[in-house]
Amino acid sequence: MAKITVVGAGNVGATCANVLAFNKIADEVVMLDVKEGVAEGKAIDMMQTAQTLDFETKIVGITNDYSKTADSDVVIVTSGIPRKPGMTREELIGVNANIVKSVVENCLKFSPNAIFIIISNPMDTMTYLTLKATGLPKNRVIGMGGTLDSSRFKYYLSQALNVNPSQVDGTVIGGHGDTTMIPLKRLATYNGIPVSQLLDAATLDKVVADTMVGGATLTGLLGTSAWYAPGAAGAYVAESIIRDYKRLIPCCIYLEGEYGQKDICIGVPAILGRNGVEKIVDFKLNDEEKALFEKSAEAVRKTNDILKEIKAL
Ligand code: LAC
Repeated sequence: MAKITVVGAGNVGATCANVLAFNKIADEVVMLDVKEGVAEGKAIDMMQTAQTLDFETKIVGITNDYSKTADSDVVIVTSGIPRKPGMTREELIGVNANIVKSVVENCLKFSPNAIFIIISNPMDTMTYLTLKATGLPKNRVIGMGGTLDSSRFKYYLSQALNVNPSQVDGTVIGGHGDTTMIPLKRLATYNGIPVSQLLDAATLDKVVADTMVGGATLTGLLGTSAWYAPGAAGAYVAESIIRDYKRLIPCCIYLEGEYGQKDICIGVPAILGRNGVEKIVDFKLNDEEKALFEKSAEAVRKTNDILKEIKAL
């Protein structure tokens, strides 16, 4: 009997809950929001699709009552404000840090064994804050940024190649920021064939550039940040944990020397199973990638430093 709590019933949280139910990932999904009626309304709306979409997951909507989240196996945090056109994810820290901190502390009171998946932005720093504020072991705090960024990378690759997206593979490591993420073009493949043999350098560089601003492009189009891919990425991470799939997923986790970094949460590939992070796959980057990773870590650290300035840590 798997129970998942999704905190925040906005666009991302509701999409995530919907995917969790539709894909039968949990027996019970609790959606919690601060706005009276919103989580309840969306939960009932989703439950009214149970017959047409054929799922038996129970979705419950709650306003603020954390006791209803008790004994969750996984908690997915989407709380906080999304960015508006022209904003960076990092600019959200002042508002979102204290929201995320209080959310994770409240959830932990009722679900002391839960594994936390962080979606709120700035995602790398919110993951770090969750880990540091709660003292949870590093296997139980996972940010979903790289999962989403890799899915965007694969999308743009499939568009450039004009092929079936499910046969494209690609990994994005580093921070979940417009200038900090690192789509690993050297390792991207189409059905095992290096894409560098199929796309010219300029096209591949454009795919990388489009991936990096993938979220910002959608924010420009939508007037707020995206939700389908972020929500689905959160559910994908949760699925690997709940079903012990041990998928290798790029995600934001605490490093203790891997990739030459310490005391930081940043995107790297990790095997996710019932115990959360079960193994970090620490593979060899080339010199160019290593330099990009160091620069990315430096930028993430700068944002983490703000946590002290605003007294969130
Ligand atoms: C995005 C936000 C959710 O990349 O971080 O769409």
